[in-house]
Amino acid sequence: MERGLLIDGKAIAAQIRQELKSETDRLIQNGVQPGLAVILVGRDSASETYVRGKVRACAEVGIHSEQIRMPEETSEDELLDQIRKLNRDSSIHGILVQLPLPEHISPNRVISEIDPDKDVDGFHPINAGRLATGLDSFLPCTPHGILQLLKRTGVQVAGKHAVVVGRSNIVGKPVSLLLQRENATVTMCHSRTEHLQAHTRQADILIAAVGKRHVITKDDVKPGAVVIDVGMNRNEQGKLAGDVDFEEVRPLASHITPVPGGVGPMTIAMLLYNTCLAAEASGD
Ligand code: GUN
Repeated sequence: MERGLLIDGKAIAAQIRQELKSETDRLIQNGVQPGLAVILVGRDSASETYVRGKVRACAEVGIHSEQIRMPEETSEDELLDQIRKLNRDSSIHGILVQLPLPEHISPNRVISEIDPDKDVDGFHPINAGRLATGLDSFLPCTPHGILQLLKRTGVQVAGKHAVVVGRSNIVGKPVSLLLQRENATVTMCHSRTEHLQAHTRQADILIAAVGKRHVITKDDVKPGAVVIDVGMNRNEQGKLAGDVDFEEVRPLASHITPVPGGVGPMTIAMLLYNTCLAAEASGD
C-alpha cells in the first residue's frame, strides 16, 4: 500500500479557480458579473490575512469584490444595517462576514440577517438546516473543500469510516453531514470525548478540526488512513501549524494534507464557487 502521499490543496484549488474563471467569463458574457462583499470588523490579524486572500482570489477569477472594513467599536445594529444594505444591492451576490466578531456582537444574530440566497459561507440557519435535511443549499466552504480534496484525489468515501475530531458549526458539524451524504460511516469526537485515541485509530478517513497544534500524533492514526488537517494554528514564532503532527504522521498515512497548502486554499476556492452559484441563481 502507498504511504505518505501529499494531497496538494494548493494545486487542486488552482485547478478549481481555473474552472471558475471559465464560469465567470460565461456569466459576464450573459451580463452578470459575480460580486462578493467581505465584511471585516476590527483588526484581527489572522482575519486580515484571510480576507486579503479572498479578495485576491476573486480578482484572479473575475469576481467583483468589495471589502468593507468596520472599526472594532462598530455596534451590532450598525453591522446589521450594513448587511441589510448589501442584501438589497443587486451587484452583490455573496455576503461574507469574517469571523470571529468582536465580543459585543452576536455572530448568530449577524449571520441570520444575511439573505440566505447570498449566504456564500453556508452558515445561515436556513442553509445549515437545508444541508442537514438533504435539500440543496450553499455548502460551507471548508467542508466542501475537504470533500473536493477527497474526490479529486480519488479517495473512496462511500462505506468508509470517517472520524471527525471537532464539532464546530463551521467545520466539524457540516463536514460530518457531508460525509454521511457521501455514504461514509461517521463518528464525531470532541473535547469531551473519552478514549479519543480508540476512536481516531478506527478511522479510514481522519478529519482533524480542533484548532490546537499537534493534537493528532502517530499513535492516534491507523496505518493507511487518509488524514485531513483543518488546523490553522500559529506556533511561538508565528509559523502556521496544523492539528496533526505532520512529520510523524505522514509516513503512516496513505494520504495527508499539509498545513499550509492543504485545506486552506480549498476554503477560498469553494467560496468563489458559491459566489458563482449565487450569481447564476440571481437570474432565476
Ligand atoms: N473564520 C474562520 N473560517 C471562516 C469562514 O470559513 N468564513 C468566515 N466568514 N469566517 C471564518
